[in-house]
Amino acid sequence: MRHPIRFALAAVLVIAACGGGADQSGDSAAAGTTVAAVDPATLDPATITPQELALGDSLFHGLIGATSCQACHGPDGKGGTVAPDLTDSTWLHSDGSYGAIYKQIETGVMQPKQYMGVMPPFGGAPLTPEKHRAVAAYVYRLSNPAK
Ligand code: HEC
Repeated sequence: MRHPIRFALAAVLVIAACGGGADQSGDSAAAGTTVAAVDPATLDPATITPQELALGDSLFHGLIGATSCQACHGPDGKGGTVAPDLTDSTWLHSDGSYGAIYKQIETGVMQPKQYMGVMPPFGGAPLTPEKHRAVAAYVYRLSNPAK
């Protein structure tokens, strides 16, 4: 949590530089432009494996890959000054289902509802379908612990 604001600002600058400010179409801006390797509608939480959760945990915490979700959402996923709590049952952008979270990670959040900064797609750097699915599973389980 040392430089979260700078991180968010950098993301805004990158997006402004690439998009020229012309794209105001919101969260769904990226929808339809990428071919989903997994149909989010078919994602079933019952298929989540411990291996997948371990991979998702490492990705969330920036131990592997170029993106750290915890930089904005906090190490415990409970949010902070730049990004929301992912462990509660309040969802700003979706119904919080496994498939919806998967989609949200891909599109990011161009029009935040409560926070000042945006979330870049995949939190900053593209993920392989396997890693995308794993981090979505990890985030889903933060608010829906296995019974
Ligand atoms: C640069 C900061 C930043 C990073 C990095 C980041 N997020 Fe976000 N995230 C946000 C912001 C800002 C929002 C939207 C807040 C708002 O709407 O006010 C958000 C929203 C979300 C939401 C939707 C929450 C809801 O209530 O509907 C999910 C899910 C999410 N992020 C998951 C992730 C995951 C997983 C990663 C890592 C792959 C990640 N985020 C990386 C800043 C970030």
